[in-house]
Amino acid sequence: MSSAQPQAGSLHSSPAATFRRKVLDLRSQGRTIVDMTAGDLDFPTPSHVVEAAIAAVRAGDTRYTNVDGTPELKDAVREHFRRQNGLEFERSEIIVSNGSSQAIATAFAVTLKPGDEVIVPSPCWATYYGQARLAGGVPVPVPCAQNNGFKLRPEDLASAITPRTRWIVINNPVNPTGAVYTRAELAELCDVVRPHPEVRVIADNLYEHFVFDGARAVTPLEAAPDLRDRMVTVGGVAKSYSMMGWRIGYAAAPANFVAEMTKVQYVVTSCASSVSQAAATAALTGPQTVLTERLAILQERRDLAVSLVNGCEGLSATSPEGTFYLCISCAGVIGKRTPQGRVLETGEDVSDYLLGAAGIALLPGEGYGLPRYVRMTFAVPTEHIHEAGRLIGQGCAALT
Ligand SMILES: Cc1ncc(COP(=O)(O)O)c(C=O)c1O
Repeated sequence: MSSAQPQAGSLHSSPAATFRRKVLDLRSQGRTIVDMTAGDLDFPTPSHVVEAAIAAVRAGDTRYTNVDGTPELKDAVREHFRRQNGLEFERSEIIVSNGSSQAIATAFAVTLKPGDEVIVPSPCWATYYGQARLAGGVPVPVPCAQNNGFKLRPEDLASAITPRTRWIVINNPVNPTGAVYTRAELAELCDVVRPHPEVRVIADNLYEHFVFDGARAVTPLEAAPDLRDRMVTVGGVAKSYSMMGWRIGYAAAPANFVAEMTKVQYVVTSCASSVSQAAATAALTGPQTVLTERLAILQERRDLAVSLVNGCEGLSATSPEGTFYLCISCAGVIGKRTPQGRVLETGEDVSDYLLGAAGIALLPGEGYGLPRYVRMTFAVPTEHIHEAGRLIGQGCAALT
């Protein structure tokens, strides 16, 4: 692990958490705000998962577990990889962490030396930057153009690789754009990585179950099995099973790499919660119908959100292939004037305006490397989406 400290001020709060403070302030002043910013789902944790947690507590399953996770959960994760990706792992190749966030940060911590570079396709979940910096690394955002579906192009990856590159992050599907890489696209990216033995791939599959229109999210290891020694495949139960607060993630990697990650995790948090691990085991081994049922609901909500947003003057959104976020282009309202006389120049301006004037909270895209966009979740009840469409429409219509 690197001994370097991140420079003061190099870490940032979550854009969603920062923005939510504005929402809470307004609510405390008595304003009604429709909050479309959250990164979690409105669905409850499935009841059989809750029951498993209660049973674990009652059975006294409240002690430290192995740092790298209970054998039961590791086996459940192995079964998950077999079912979802056709990938086989040994128990020694799995680590259970406090959310997938911790697995990513730990993987960086065991490898990065000061100045080592981590390539992050942008727009992205900007937490990767902080996770790289925390380990002494330097995040290198590589812009992914809208006309390529916000996906990383092999030629752009090739020119971003330097002798200091140690990682490339592949989030599939992508938060915030909802882009989904195909197997062929991942294979092409892996072709670029292959001749660079110092470069590893970290695959973040957190939204793997939120892929619409019958498609399936592929993980890079499926596309390039020969790079197995250089791949860390990360997942978690947070989004898939509506278990955001239970804090269970996991990673699959070569056994020696998992052993190094375990040492780091031991000194940082030790094991993940024993009760949450029992719950996650139930989620991964229990009925999986909840995934397809909820996906169907989300697909309807997505279609509704896209059509309502596209009905708002000056805004446009294409249908995301995955995740539960809609990236809304504000191009048609940039340059317009609010009733208070302010000219809108950024996604942040648009988001501030709609919050104040229309009582609707949308996250500025700037925090995700997506200027002049706002991000809207559709993992909320349908009536909130209708209300959001109405309020955004009113707000846009008042611009001149
Ligand atoms: C792309 C992505 N990866 C990882 C995470 C972290 O998830 P977890 O709750 O498993 O730590 C998030 C959370 O929003 C995310 O959007």
